[in-house]
Amino acid sequence: MATTASFSVWAFAFSLCLGVCKCYFSIPLKIYTGSYNFSSEVDVTSLRPGALTSDGNGLSLASDPTGTVNFLDMVNNLEGDSGRGYYIEMSIGTPGQKLNILVDTGSSNFAVAAAPHPFITHYFDTALSSTYDSSRRTVGVRYTQGNWEGELGIDRVTIPMGPNGTITINIAAILSSEGFFLPGVNWQGILGLAYPMLSRPDSSVEPFFNSVVRQLGIPDIFSLQMCGAGLSASSTADPAGGSLIMGGVEPTLYQGSVWYTPILEEWYYQVEVLKLEVGNQNLDLDCREYNMDKAIVDSGTTLLRLPVNVFNAVVGAITRSSLIQDFSSGFWDGTKLACWMKGETPWRFFPKLSIYLRATNTSQSFRITILPQLYIQPITDVDGTLDCFRFGVSSSANGLVIGATVMEGFYVVFDRAQRRLGFSLSNCAVNGGVALSEIAGPFSAADVAADCSTGPLKEPLLWVISYALMAICAVILIILLLLLVLPCRHRDRSGEITDESSLVRHRIK
Ligand SMILES: *[C@@H]1O[C@H](CO)[C@@H](O)[C@H](O)[C@H]1NC(C)=O
Ligand SMILES: *[C@@H]1O[C@H](CO)[C@@H](O)[C@H](O)[C@H]1NC(C)=O
Ligand SMILES: *[C@@H]1O[C@H](CO)[C@@H](O)[C@H](O)[C@H]1NC(C)=O
Repeated sequence: MATTASFSVWAFAFSLCLGVCKCYFSIPLKIYTGSYNFSSEVDVTSLRPGALTSDGNGLSLASDPTGTVNFLDMVNNLEGDSGRGYYIEMSIGTPGQKLNILVDTGSSNFAVAAAPHPFITHYFDTALSSTYDSSRRTVGVRYTQGNWEGELGIDRVTIPMGPNGTITINIAAILSSEGFFLPGVNWQGILGLAYPMLSRPDSSVEPFFNSVVRQLGIPDIFSLQMCGAGLSASSTADPAGGSLIMGGVEPTLYQGSVWYTPILEEWYYQVEVLKLEVGNQNLDLDCREYNMDKAIVDSGTTLLRLPVNVFNAVVGAITRSSLIQDFSSGFWDGTKLACWMKGETPWRFFPKLSIYLRATNTSQSFRITILPQLYIQPITDVDGTLDCFRFGVSSSANGLVIGATVMEGFYVVFDRAQRRLGFSLSNCAVNGGVALSEIAGPFSAADVAADCSTGPLKEPLLWVISYALMAICAVILIILLLLLVLPCRHRDRSGEITDESSLVRHRIK
């Protein structure tokens, strides 16, 4: 009796183990081989200015906040998702024409469609606005993806779910564009929220938010909550939404404390990344690799973009820890989807990703972490029997970009007044009661280099150094030449041998 019982226990344990092992070793994975159109995705980081103009920010820091601003009136003023971008409704011109405007912290021009385009439903008709004032200057912006050209002008704008008041702002009327407006997007213009240094044609064109702060007297802070976490980036269903709070921080949008990292340079929102972890494994690259040639926070970029070396290290680490060995490279480079049977959520196979940022106390850091739900992203409408996902991280040739994939986990405070960016746990980055992001600190930054940034703004200093070195070389060369030439003169004058020692001999004689 006892032996039969123990046998059946063993048999049960054995079959359980088999079941578990089977479950782990034959993950029902299928790489979808059909084409998927990733090109219809927002990627609007403005490209670096060709020539580095001087930093035109005589920014007025916020004086004490006048007027009462009710942030609750701005909650949920955004629509959209990571793939198609997040946009806010604005009323432009007199009488007001309503347009949806993409919120982009990676550029600095305010621009709206001012001519018909096949991918947009309506545009700003400058002829119908009595307050539109054209400057007759042309302007154009090139982004990581797409570009536009148009005419600079000035007009009045109100934001129905923004701060009270009408603002007179610089506006670029887009007359032609390539790859900028995309099929399926529901916005007709772009709100560049970065610093004057990125403004085109030059930094004298005051960006929108600078005008808002100056004219309405609100504090020089805005904060951004994007709520598409865990939702399909390409679904045709209702977009997710979010909040752009202008003038401060709305306490109901986050939990816990806000962790701040300094803004290194005021052009993009450039920050300093100290370390990356996959699972709990430190990637252990030289921290300069993470900031090559800059690390920025950009709401107008869909994915988390990593410099090539960092990207390869992350993919390697995920492959090792994901229990999935047979991924085709197509999944990682974004050309193929990975699919599982419907209902098989694959997230348990993937590790967490953590980014360590320099804290405002520069000898410390803090860590923002995203769960796989944020970077293994569902793509709907591919195949009826399968759930398909794409990799929300891509490689980058122009620096590390903390894009919507990461930002959707956090309520991000752009505290321009104190030149710092704050991260806190977003209360909409939750799925079935489980938080999809984590934030922790402080950690010591003593083991990290004092300066991990390799920003292009350091270049002028390098140039100064190299010019100085060149000048020193030139002086040495001239001295050498003189030394060569002078002895000849001696010979000319005296007809004698004229090297240094012979001169001495001469004198002794
Ligand atoms: C993908 O989108 C681009 C840009 O809208 C379009 O020109 C192209 O035809 C699309 N490709 C496919 C395979 O749908
Ligand atoms: C705008 O003004 C109205 C009326 O004074 C007020 O109720 C509302 O809260 C204000 N909105 C904001 C965002 O300050
Ligand atoms: C900054 O951090 C260091 C190391 O943790 C600590 O010793 C120091 O007191 C901190 N400085 C401030 C101003 O908080």
